[in-house]
Amino acid sequence: MHPSGMLRIDELTPEERAVYNTLKRERLPEHVAIIMDGNGRWAGHRSLKRFLGHQQGAKSVQLVTETASRIGLPWLTLYAFSLENNLRRPKAEVNFLMRLLKTYLENNVQRMNDNNVRIRYIGRVHELPREVQDKMQWAQEETARNTGTTLTLALNYGARSEMVDACRALAREMQQKHIAPDRITEEDLHRHLYTAQMPDPDLLIRTSGEMRISNFLLWQIAYTEIYVTERLWPDFRGIHLLEAIAAFQRRERRYGGLSDSVGEVEEDPERIKIAAS
Ligand code: FPP
Repeated sequence: MHPSGMLRIDELTPEERAVYNTLKRERLPEHVAIIMDGNGRWAGHRSLKRFLGHQQGAKSVQLVTETASRIGLPWLTLYAFSLENNLRRPKAEVNFLMRLLKTYLENNVQRMNDNNVRIRYIGRVHELPREVQDKMQWAQEETARNTGTTLTLALNYGARSEMVDACRALAREMQQKHIAPDRITEEDLHRHLYTAQMPDPDLLIRTSGEMRISNFLLWQIAYTEIYVTERLWPDFRGIHLLEAIAAFQRRERRYGGLSDSVGEVEEDPERIKIAAS
């Protein structure tokens, strides 16, 4: 899962290394997803225009990705642009975010390659402007052979529309193969999600203190640990990713089962009788 050949711990900052050294290597998450929030507030607190918050947020994307690659995190998924952002934000801000994405990819593909990072996307990306799609395609191809962290950018993404897209694809498949609806399994739906090739996130981080999921990876986060920090995304760095992983390791994941400390459950026939009566 974390082949030591892919680890570049010596490239962490001394502060990052101090946190990393407290982590249990055998319990590192495989997949971390992040809702990057607070760019506008970051700018507002400094009396700056919102777009400067987004610009600073793009720097955080790169720095956090590089720390993820140094610790050998296999999957990092970032919510960069939602369907709702596309529909509800002023056109000028949407256009700025599209230009920022293009320049971000142009300027950072070399660094992605230096860090062995592969870029991919999820969302209704075919609805994005043609020149943005071309740049995305270029970055994906340029980084396709990298074997370290897979950075997935969620762009024009919404979890409900992902499920609608999956249902449509599954319905088409069922029709072609003459499969009855009662034979549908969870795996069938999973196969048609944008994330079919990825493990579900172990850890979901949200910055800027909001306690919301905002239509992100709704199916995939069924058993994901959620970590909310007050820190605004433009201030979020690799060390904060490591702190979130440390908090994640203090949690106990039960997937609907019982804690190990509960031990054997004794059957009490009297209590069963009462419950049944
Ligand atoms: C939330 O901030 C963030 C976004 C709408 C998009 C995230 C975009 C980036 C991090 C920058 C570009 C990304 C890439 C991959 C180049 P907000 O505007 O909702 O903040 P607010 O809630 O404080 O107003």
